[in-house]
Amino acid sequence: MKRILLPLVVTILGVSCAGDDGIPVYRQSGRSVDERVEDLLRRMTLEEKILQLNQYIVGLNTNVNNIGREIEEVPAGIGSVIYFSDNVALRNELQRKAVEETRLGIPVLFGFDVIHGFRTIYPIPLAQGCSWNPSLVETLCRTAAREARLSGTDWTFSPMIDVSRDARWGRVAECYGEDPYCNAVMGVASVRGYQGEDLYLTERIAACAKHYVGYGLSQGGRDYTSTDVSMQSLWDTYLPPYKACVEAGVETVMSAFNDINGVPATANAALLTDILKRRWGHAGFVVSDWNAVEQLVAQGYARDRKEAALRAFTAGVEMDMKDDCYRAYFPELLDEGKITQRQIDEAVSRILRLKFRLGLFERPYTDSLPEAERVLAPEALQAAEQLAGESMVLLKNDGVLPLSGVDDIAVIGPMARDRFHLLGSWRCHGRAEDAQTLYEGLEQEFGSGVSLHYAPGCDFDGSDRSGFARARQLAARCDVVILCLGERAEWSGENASRSTIALPEIQQELVEALSTCGKPLVVVLSNGRPLDLHRMEPLASAMLEIWQPGLRGGSAMAGILSGRVNPSGRLCMTFPRSTGQIPIFYNSRSSARPDQGHYQDISNTPLYEFGYGLSYSKFVYGELSADTDRISAHEPFTVRVDVTNESDVDGYETVHWYVTDPCCSITRPVKELRYFEKRLIPAGATETFTFRVVPERDLAYVDSEGNPLLEAGEFRIGVKDRSLTLNLE
Ligand code: BGC
Repeated sequence: MKRILLPLVVTILGVSCAGDDGIPVYRQSGRSVDERVEDLLRRMTLEEKILQLNQYIVGLNTNVNNIGREIEEVPAGIGSVIYFSDNVALRNELQRKAVEETRLGIPVLFGFDVIHGFRTIYPIPLAQGCSWNPSLVETLCRTAAREARLSGTDWTFSPMIDVSRDARWGRVAECYGEDPYCNAVMGVASVRGYQGEDLYLTERIAACAKHYVGYGLSQGGRDYTSTDVSMQSLWDTYLPPYKACVEAGVETVMSAFNDINGVPATANAALLTDILKRRWGHAGFVVSDWNAVEQLVAQGYARDRKEAALRAFTAGVEMDMKDDCYRAYFPELLDEGKITQRQIDEAVSRILRLKFRLGLFERPYTDSLPEAERVLAPEALQAAEQLAGESMVLLKNDGVLPLSGVDDIAVIGPMARDRFHLLGSWRCHGRAEDAQTLYEGLEQEFGSGVSLHYAPGCDFDGSDRSGFARARQLAARCDVVILCLGERAEWSGENASRSTIALPEIQQELVEALSTCGKPLVVVLSNGRPLDLHRMEPLASAMLEIWQPGLRGGSAMAGILSGRVNPSGRLCMTFPRSTGQIPIFYNSRSSARPDQGHYQDISNTPLYEFGYGLSYSKFVYGELSADTDRISAHEPFTVRVDVTNESDVDGYETVHWYVTDPCCSITRPVKELRYFEKRLIPAGATETFTFRVVPERDLAYVDSEGNPLLEAGEFRIGVKDRSLTLNLE
């Protein structure tokens, strides 16, 4: 009898055996992900492995006639693509090429920027931060994940958790504001919403925490610049949201564009490998930002693309987004011994692991469902409206709101009938035609009993004042003016910095022109950053910040104006008095001379501070109390406060719990948000809010190497203007 040589040959070649039933191990869904990855890796050639480490672009072209060509241009064995289309057939065609025309049939991973919705666009992240409602944020991310997965996207480049304190930077729109804790909580809520408990064969998608790290510190708010940040600030401010997302199981992380203290984030081994992977144990992979590997040359950190590939890869970036440096140079770098097979295997395993976890080997294709079954479900739109309402911040109200007893409303301003700009930047597959205008929201809200009269007044910018006269006439004839102002969508987001955060002169002048008509002026603002409002604030009877609220901003805004919705948004980013006050944020460190060093021309305080926002209810805070007066490092304790709604309107209140450590071996911010809770307080009722303090988590701090530090002595725990002093023994 002949000896069976095959298994022996297979072993000698280092190729693993097929399973008992002849199916390769990596194709057996019952095997563990690690077994499958190990088996597949052993079967792959070097070229196949290297392809997995690259991400190409597909779908910018919406012309169906070119689909064939577009697919031809992408190598069948590519690791991932950024998929700009929601065309399921195109996606499946590309996937078919990977699955059927390659030796091992490894599916492609389809990624895209699903930032605040896929087709059901909800408020921008900066607005979401102001809702202080992480569970609603989680719900909306789940909705976005579903729409995305059913339309062929497996992976989103979200959440962005770059703590940002410079409103000139257009990307403040994409994060959750100036506070590390708020970014951490909202980031984790997003990760949970996108990924759920299990990615396998579900309607969830992989998340990506970005941009690691310090990108929010771009100099002067100019995008892509270098950042100079102390290790202390990195550890106490910029890294915590990432650590929280890693602990929550975020599948991937994106490296940032910026240079950090002389080493670009995309080639920063200390941050990517030592901290992210070794210290925090991130088991997923890191993708570079768009062209960021090649940009190491522009940043002066690599002589050429080849060296850039070497630097990024050895620092810990597993996937090269878009610029093809890895594919082009890895064979040479391997031959030269600058990178090793082992490093490549490790990187490829991280990427394959996600593909297995997503169930892509079992379900590579996307079912072709009718649009109505994939996107814009009524409950998704309803949740988008709720989040829009909860994220809007009432900045001023002299009593004109909620509106009552009005018969004629003048609706004026460039934003009033706009659909597009309300969606903001990164609108994914959102369409202006799906959006409700502010005017339509008002029409629906006020019905036939009230007459609306519209005039644009002016454009978003420019110098055409010819519409002012008509706007003034209208204002004079009506009972109240609703003036809808703001920013074009492209004025915030990536590569959208502004040297001043005031609205353009023409919009300011329109406010001035209307303020002398003798009618209450309700200013509604839609924008992607905090604004300098010092000039219009004294002229307005009320100001409502609605951000870029998405598809259902119109009804949410109108609901607040009518009183159907009681405003509950609170700022997650400070509104300075002027651009020159930047940077200004609540959690700065104490001045050496608090009574001096002020600006000579304006106050040192902001116009609207972090946590600020008005309600139609009146909330009165009681005294704080703790369940102990002796606290120790290892024993949690509880602090409580009663909040009474002394009004006849039910309202949501967010209690922000701050910790102050007045003296520490490393100076600490004047106060730090450690916990928050938002709850409905019925009219006339009192609710007790509690904060379970875990000293090692909530009172501790980190040093410049990331080591926690908890020192005995005095601590203050505060809410609003109340605080309680406790002594840690
Ligand atoms: C942005 C990222 C984004 C990527 C892919 C880059 O320019 O900085 O935030 O995820 O493009 O679209």
